[in-house]
Amino acid sequence: MKKLCALVMILLVMACTPCHGQKDICIVGSGMGGASVAYFLKEYAQAPLQISIFEQSDRVGGRMSLVELEGDTFEAGGSVIHPKNLHSLKFTELLGLNRTTGDDDDSFGIWDGTQFVFQTARAGDSIFSKTFTQIMNTLSIMWRYGLSLWKMQTYTNGMLDNFMQIYKDDRPAFDTVEELLKSVDLYNRTQYTLEELLLEAGLSRLLIDELITVTMRINYGQNVSISGMAGAVSIAGSQGGLWAVVGGNWQLADGLIRHTNASLSLNHKVVSVTAVEEKYELAFEQGTATCDVVVMATPLDESKITFIPSVNLLKRHMQHTYTTFVRGLLNPI
Ligand SMILES: Cc1cc2nc3c(=O)[nH]c(=O)nc-3n(C[C@H](O)[C@H](O)[C@H](O)COP(=O)(O)OP(=O)(O)OC[C@H]3O[C@@H](n4cnc5c(N)ncnc54)[C@H](O)[C@@H]3O)c2cc1C
Ligand SMILES: *[C@@H]1O[C@H](CO)[C@@H](O)[C@H](O)[C@H]1NC(C)=O
Ligand SMILES: *[C@@H]1O[C@H](CO)[C@@H](O)[C@H](O)[C@H]1NC(C)=O
Ligand SMILES: *[C@@H]1O[C@H](CO)[C@@H](O)[C@H](O)[C@H]1NC(C)=O
Ligand SMILES: *[C@@H]1O[C@H](CO)[C@@H](O)[C@H](O)[C@H]1NC(C)=O
Repeated sequence: MKKLCALVMILLVMACTPCHGQKDICIVGSGMGGASVAYFLKEYAQAPLQISIFEQSDRVGGRMSLVELEGDTFEAGGSVIHPKNLHSLKFTELLGLNRTTGDDDDSFGIWDGTQFVFQTARAGDSIFSKTFTQIMNTLSIMWRYGLSLWKMQTYTNGMLDNFMQIYKDDRPAFDTVEELLKSVDLYNRTQYTLEELLLEAGLSRLLIDELITVTMRINYGQNVSISGMAGAVSIAGSQGGLWAVVGGNWQLADGLIRHTNASLSLNHKVVSVTAVEEKYELAFEQGTATCDVVVMATPLDESKITFIPSVNLLKRHMQHTYTTFVRGLLNPI
């Protein structure tokens, strides 16, 4: 989902000789990546396909996950979808799922460790109070950050405009993520920190140190030394118009897997992928499967899957985030 999910997939496509007859496709991972690749393969493939999805856990959806606590449910992973995420929009309609309407309480404060350096007002219930508070909040945020706010939007919308080119039907296919990013002119943004690019775009130190830093902390638990590309995605994730699927975003993956008639094997952890003559053999704890094409729809950085022959992966440093759900009861006394 985070718009770039398709990028973490590595397609191991082997030359198919002969090129007719049914193809057996194995997809490792039932998150949004695996589910959408199943959908697109069915949509575009010329030959008939038999798609099998193998998932190590006992549920689909991967990093889109609903947590239930005392009768309430919470999105614990991918929780909000950007209005320019056209694939998710299309899938939601295709599957007949409903979208949430935004939460209109956008009041917030910025705490610097000792005090609130900025705070918006919280609106009352009446329409008048809501409108009035909204105007006052807009004015006070403009008073503090000035023209820099506009520059921040320009920076983010520039990224989004480039990104939208990936939806073009005549776009070519790419062998690497780098090539895809280069083709839509976004690669350069991965080569500088967000801080460097925002300073170059003329944003004030105050906006970078406060609002932008807070946004990076909330979204990724990091700071403005994140890459300029990831940073723009993170700022976009705090824009207006964000939505979610009623009942949980994991239903997008679930629905697509059903829609494509793919066979789904839960509790099947892939331990190795071996090239055997013209095919690939997947090994699980429970046995093996043979396929013409294997799609790895899971980040390989930390998975312990063995590839024979081995696959060269760029070493990346992953940020680990730990989440604790706590149920608190207010004691008004
Ligand atoms: C806390 C958090 C918040 C986020 N918030 C947002 C947000 O608000 N908006 C947004 O757009 N995005 C958000 N994201 C990002 C988004 O959730 C992910 O980009 C997206 O869900 C990734 O999908 P995926 O299919 O690529 O990978 P995953 O969802 O990780 O799917 C991989 C699947 O492969 C399975 N697997 C792994 N190894 C094996 C194996 N050896 N054998 C078999 N199966 C295996 C895993 O169990 C998993 O189900 C968030 C992510 C996190 C973690
Ligand atoms: C979507 O909303 C409509 C109208 O409220 C409701 O009838 C329908 O059951 C909902 N569908 C899903 C999948 O939740
Ligand atoms: C890449 O970005 C840097 C910093 O903004 C800029 O100086 C440089 O000209 C850009 N290069 C290309 C090829 O766009
Ligand atoms: C930002 O994060 C990086 C990486 O974790 C760290 O090295 C750096 O010190 C942080 N900078 C600030 C100003 O906190
Ligand atoms: C899935 O199977 C149903 C029933 O056999 C069929 O009508 C439908 O066209 C299939 N969908 C796809 C995408 O193959």
